[in-house]
Amino acid sequence: MTPELRLAHTVLQTNRKAVMRDWYVRALAARVVYETELIAFLTFDEEHHRLGLISAPVPFAERTPTTVGLAHTAYTFASLADLLDRFAVLRAAGVRPHVCVAHGPTTSLYYRDPDGNTVELQIDNFADAEETTAYLTGPEFTADPVGPAFDPDRLLADYERGVPIAELTTRTWAAAGAVHSHPLLALTGDEPARPVSAE
Ligand SMILES: [Fe+2]
Repeated sequence: MTPELRLAHTVLQTNRKAVMRDWYVRALAARVVYETELIAFLTFDEEHHRLGLISAPVPFAERTPTTVGLAHTAYTFASLADLLDRFAVLRAAGVRPHVCVAHGPTTSLYYRDPDGNTVELQIDNFADAEETTAYLTGPEFTADPVGPAFDPDRLLADYERGVPIAELTTRTWAAAGAVHSHPLLALTGDEPARPVSAE
C-alpha cells in the first residue's frame, strides 16, 4: 500500500528576510509562527509552517528569472470571491500580479515576491481532479496548454457587475479581453508581457 504523502512546506533562501516575511504575511494572509535573526516560519492554515525563509551569514547569489529551478508555488482559494478579495486587498496595497492566466482548469494570478520568485494565487474551476484531468487531455487544452492572459481589474469589475462565475472562469471570457500575446513568456521570463495590440 502506498503511504499517505502530503506536501508540507516550501523554504526559500533569501537575502532580505524581513521584506520577504512582510510580503508573504500580506500576500497569503499568513502569520509568523517562529522567527530568529536568520529564519522565519509562516503558516496560514492548520500546518505548523507552510513557508520557511532562511537567510545566511554570507549572502546568497540572487536568483534571476532564467535560473534553473522552481518556477512558482501555487496557493488555492476556495472560491472566485475569495481570490478576488485577496486581489483587491493586495491591489490597495500596491501589490499587483505580474500576469494573470485563464488556464481553464484554474484561474491564476501570478505575483512576484521581492526576490523575484513567482507565487500563483488561483482557484480550481472544475469540481474535482477527475474533471480537471479530463480537461487536460481534451481538445481545448491540447490545442493550447497555457490559455489567454487577462486583466484582473476587468475580472473584478465583471464579477462585481454580476457576470456569472461560470462565464468569468472560461478561456472564452479571458480571450475576449486578452492582454498579453504570449502569457508563457510573461510567466517565465523577465521580459515585460507584450500587449496583444502590439502585434
Ligand atoms: Fe501553477
